[in-house]
Amino acid sequence: MSKKTCALIFLFVSFHYTFGQDLSCEYELKSGVYCCNLAIKNPNGLDNFTEISGTHVMSYFDRNVAEVSATSESLSINIPAKICEKFVNLKTITLFNIGLEKIGENSFKSCKNIEKISLNGNKIQEVSELAFNETLKLDSLTLDTNQLTVIPETLFANQLNLKFLFFGNNKISNMPNKIFETLQSLTYLDCSKNEISNLQIDWFTKLPSLERLLLNNNKIMELPAGVFASLESLVYLTLASNNISVIESKSFGTLPKLNSVELQQNMISAIDEQFINNTGIQYLTVNFNICVNKTINDETPQRDEIKNELKNCFENFENLSNTISSTSTTLQTDIPTISLSNTTSDSTPSISTVSSTIPPTSNNTVPSTNPPTDPLSSPQTEPSTITSTELTTITSTEPSTITSTEPPTTTYNGATAIIIAKFVLILAFIINFMFT
Ligand SMILES: *[C@@H]1O[C@H](CO)[C@@H](O)[C@H](O)[C@H]1NC(C)=O
Ligand SMILES: *[C@@H]1O[C@H](CO)[C@@H](O)[C@H](O)[C@H]1NC(C)=O
Ligand SMILES: *[C@@H]1O[C@H](CO)[C@@H](O)[C@H](O)[C@H]1NC(C)=O
Ligand SMILES: *[C@@H]1O[C@H](CO)[C@@H](O)[C@H](O)[C@H]1NC(C)=O
Ligand SMILES: *[C@@H]1O[C@H](CO)[C@@H](O)[C@H](O)[C@H]1NC(C)=O
Ligand SMILES: *[C@@H]1O[C@H](CO)[C@@H](O)[C@H](O)[C@H]1NC(C)=O
Ligand SMILES: *[C@@H]1O[C@H](CO)[C@@H](O)[C@H](O)[C@H]1NC(C)=O
Ligand SMILES: *[C@@H]1O[C@H](CO)[C@@H](O)[C@H](O)[C@H]1NC(C)=O
Repeated sequence: MSKKTCALIFLFVSFHYTFGQDLSCEYELKSGVYCCNLAIKNPNGLDNFTEISGTHVMSYFDRNVAEVSATSESLSINIPAKICEKFVNLKTITLFNIGLEKIGENSFKSCKNIEKISLNGNKIQEVSELAFNETLKLDSLTLDTNQLTVIPETLFANQLNLKFLFFGNNKISNMPNKIFETLQSLTYLDCSKNEISNLQIDWFTKLPSLERLLLNNNKIMELPAGVFASLESLVYLTLASNNISVIESKSFGTLPKLNSVELQQNMISAIDEQFINNTGIQYLTVNFNICVNKTINDETPQRDEIKNELKNCFENFENLSNTISSTSTTLQTDIPTISLSNTTSDSTPSISTVSSTIPPTSNNTVPSTNPPTDPLSSPQTEPSTITSTELTTITSTEPSTITSTEPPTTTYNGATAIIIAKFVLILAFIINFMFT
C-alpha cells in the first residue's frame, strides 16, 4: 500500500468518525433482548433529528428494540424525542454520564411502554413538569448524581406504577408539599445526599407502599411531629449523617413494620423510649452521636439490648420533657431546635389517619394521638418474622443502579481530544507527504 492510499484511508476514517451521524445505533441481541447501543453527538442540544442510522440484525425492526443504552463516547445536552418516536416499544433507556443538562417535555412522550429510565451521572438541572406525563408504565426512575435543585410539583402526577425513585446526590433543598402524593406503588425512595433541611409534614403522608426511605446525608435538624407516621409499610429508614438532636416518638407514631433505622452521625442527645416501644425496630445504628456512640446489634437483634444501650438517651429525653413541661412558654423559645412543645402536637392530623389504616395486631395496639400508657402496647415481638423476610426480599429487588452512581472516568472531552490529535497528525502527515 502506497503512502498516499494509506493517508487517504486514514483521512476517510477520521472524517467519518467526526462528521458521521449524530444519532446512530449498533443493534445487538443481548440474551434475547434486542438492544440499541446508541452513539449520540449532540453538544448543542438539537431536537430536530429525522433519523437514527444503523443496520438492524436480520429480521429485527425498530419495533423490536426494547433497550437503548448510550455508549460511553456519547455527548448530548438533551434527550432527542426521536429516540422514543422510533422505538415505540422501548422498555429500558440508560443514558449514563453523557452530559445531559435537561429533560424536555417531549423527551419521553412517545415511550408509552417504558418501564425503566436511568439518567444518573449527568448534569441535569432542568426537568419539564410534563417529562413523564405519558410514561404510565414507568417502574423505576433514576436521576441520581445530577444537579437538580428543584422538582416540579406535578412531575410524578401520572406515576401510579412507579416503584423505585432515586434522586440522591443532587442539590435539592426543598420540594413541593404534594410532590409524592400520587405515588401509590412506590416502595423505594432515595433522597439521600441532597441539601434538605426542613422536612415538610406533607411529603410522606400518601405513600402506602413505601418500604425503604433514604434521607441520609442531608441537613435535617428536626423531625416534625407525624412526618413519618403515615408510612404504614415502612421497613427501613436512614437518617444518618444529618444534624438531628432529639428523636421523638411523635415523629413516627406507631409503625409496627419499621424494622431497621439508621441514625448514626447526627447530634442526638435524647431519644424518646416510646419511639422504640411503638415501632418494630430490631436493628438500630446510632454510633457517632452524643448520648450514644456505639453500634448495637449487628448480629442478633434484641430489643432489650437496644434499650439498654439507649438508657442515657432515654433519661435525657425524660429530663428534657420534664424541664420543658415545667417551664413557661417563653422559655421554650430559648431552645428552638428542640420541638417538644405541646403546640406541635396539634399539627399531627396524620397520626390518627394512619392509625386507622394500620391493622391492629392486638387490642392493645389500637393507636391514639396520645401516647399509650399501657406497657403492653409495645408491638415488641409481633412483626419480627414478617419484617425480616420482607427486608431480605426488598434488598434483593433493589435495582443494580444503586451501586453504580459514580460516573466513570472516561469523558467526552477525552474522545474529542483524541479526534483533534488525529487531525493534527493527519495534517502533519499530508504536509510532510506534499513536500517530499
Ligand atoms: C436541525 O437544526 C439545525 C440548527 O437549527 C440545522 O443546522 C440542521 O440542519 C437541522 N437538521 C435537520 C435534520 O433539520
Ligand atoms: C398528560 O397525560 C394525560 C394522559 O394521562 C393526557 O390526557 C394529557 O393531555 C397530558 N397532558 C399534556 C399537557 O400533555
Ligand atoms: C447543626 O445544628 C446546630 C444547632 O443545633 C447548628 O449550630 C450547626 O451549625 C448545625 N451544623 C450543620 C453542619 O448544619
Ligand atoms: C416502654 O415499654 C416498657 C416495657 O416494655 C415500659 O417499661 C416503658 O415505660 C415504656 N416506655 C414508654 C415511654 O412508654
Ligand atoms: C465516638 O467514638 C469515636 C471513637 O470510637 C470518637 O472518635 C468520636 O469522637 C466519638 N463521637 C462522639 C460524638 O462522641
Ligand atoms: C435526669 O434527672 C435526674 C433527676 O432529676 C438526675 O438524677 C439524672 O442525673 C438526670 N439524667 C441526666 C442524663 O441528665
Ligand atoms: C397540652 O397542653 C394542654 C394545655 O395547654 C394540656 O391540657 C394538655 O394536657 C397538654 N397535652 C399534653 C400531651 O401534654
Ligand atoms: C378485642 O376487644 C373485643 C371487644 O372490645 C373483644 O371482643 C375481643 O375478644 C378482643 N380481642 C382480643 C384479642 O383481645
